[in-house]
Amino acid sequence: MIEVHTGDITQLSVDAIVNAANRSLLGGGGVDGAIHRAAGSRLLEACRKLKGCETGEAKITPGFDLAARFVIHTVGPVWHGGEAGEAELLASCYRRSFELALDKAVRSIAFPGISTGVYGFPKDQAADIAVGIMREYEDRFERIIACCFSEEDARRYRERLQLK
Ligand code: APR
Repeated sequence: MIEVHTGDITQLSVDAIVNAANRSLLGGGGVDGAIHRAAGSRLLEACRKLKGCETGEAKITPGFDLAARFVIHTVGPVWHGGEAGEAELLASCYRRSFELALDKAVRSIAFPGISTGVYGFPKDQAADIAVGIMREYEDRFERIIACCFSEEDARRYRERLQLK
């Protein structure tokens, strides 16, 4: 079941939330900053031990003070116009995140709009990619949540999921 939620991903009571991180995994602004604030300082300590993460890859930590048991940190591509493999790298973020979740028997997982903020990935194309991969994994999770931070973003997902 794929759902669309509008709001702060740190407030969701799901098994895993996905973080739109950077390659250092040492925190930042946007959803990365919100997740680190909500999870507490133990998250940064755990991330330090991970020694970074390549674009398109994902790494998993506990959720610490979050309601979520796990945080899956993935590093989306910075948009450079679309000729540098950005679409494939974004797809890889979603696939690698799902694979790590399956390894931990995660049943419910929420994603932010990876790369669509600071990293500048066009939101319509990003939603096409995200929904496409979510469909691929739909039967292997109880709940997949596209967590949007605006009603405009939520509408983008609902249109693609044929939700009212
Ligand atoms: N909950 C859900 N979604 C959020 C939240 C939140 N609390 N805060 C921001 N968002 C949304 C943004 O509106 C955007 O649609 O998450 C999406 C991703 O935006 P960014 O957080 O800017 O992430 P990204 O574009 O992938 O850039 C990553 O930004 O924060 C830094 O450290 C991070 O360097 C990395 C870069």
